[in-house]
Amino acid sequence: MSNTPEQPEQQPEQTEQTGEMPYMRKIRSFVLREGRLTKGQQNALDNHWPVYGLAYQASPLNLPEVFGRSAPVVLEIGFGMGKSLVEMAKNAPEQDFIGIEVHKPGVGACLGDAAAAELSNLRVFEHDAVEVLKDSIADTSLSTVQLFFPDPWHKKRHHKRRIVQADFVQLLRQKLQIGGVFHMATDWQNYAEHMLQVMQAAPGFSNLSASNDYVERPEQRPLTKFEQRGQRLGHGVWDLMFERIN
Ligand SMILES: C[S@@+](CC[C@H](N)C(=O)[O-])C[C@H]1O[C@@H](n2cnc3c(N)ncnc32)[C@H](O)[C@@H]1O
Repeated sequence: MSNTPEQPEQQPEQTEQTGEMPYMRKIRSFVLREGRLTKGQQNALDNHWPVYGLAYQASPLNLPEVFGRSAPVVLEIGFGMGKSLVEMAKNAPEQDFIGIEVHKPGVGACLGDAAAAELSNLRVFEHDAVEVLKDSIADTSLSTVQLFFPDPWHKKRHHKRRIVQADFVQLLRQKLQIGGVFHMATDWQNYAEHMLQVMQAAPGFSNLSASNDYVERPEQRPLTKFEQRGQRLGHGVWDLMFERIN
């Protein structure tokens, strides 16, 4: 999905009234599209949401209670159709996975694949990841946060919509355990450079790259069809991994 066309130019910035600061302007990293659900996605939502779905809540979830055990928790932001998330959960039964996505057809597709694989170590939110992280996830509860091919928001005047921003990475740092890792990947060089810049300036993180920039794709990040095609065409992909050090 990372090569989906850029959102229409005239998207207005959403203005929301919040409890704390009335009329505060909230810039989101996505624009909700009215995606049509396939029959399979609708069935998956109907049948499997009760098992895999998590509702946004204003106070932190008790994750050991959610999964029925205490295990390292990996959280993925914007999982798209969920292919790589389901594969990772399948490959790492000793870890628990939480996916967050706002695009309903993607959530349906992910639930269908999770159920087909009979996964018990995956749960899914259909909600804005920024709000979920802020309110529903306890501090120091995550071993890894992954952000694969986030919307690049190509145009300069849209860069403020990119999810990787100084405030966002500090929120995320709070949720990681010390020693936990924030793993990003992008196929858009300008976004890779932006990620690096934000992370290098972010207190509390250490770059896991020996050259202090990018890392090789770690084996646990599945290679998608999209990426394989990109590799054949000579397109780049940049992985960045930062550890929470304090
Ligand atoms: C370009 S797609 C990449 C999807 C997937 N990670 C992949 O590699 O195929 C980015 C996804 O992030 C989702 N997204 C963007 N901002 C989000 C947010 N704040 N909360 C949850 N999902 C978000 C979008 O709906 C979209 O599906």
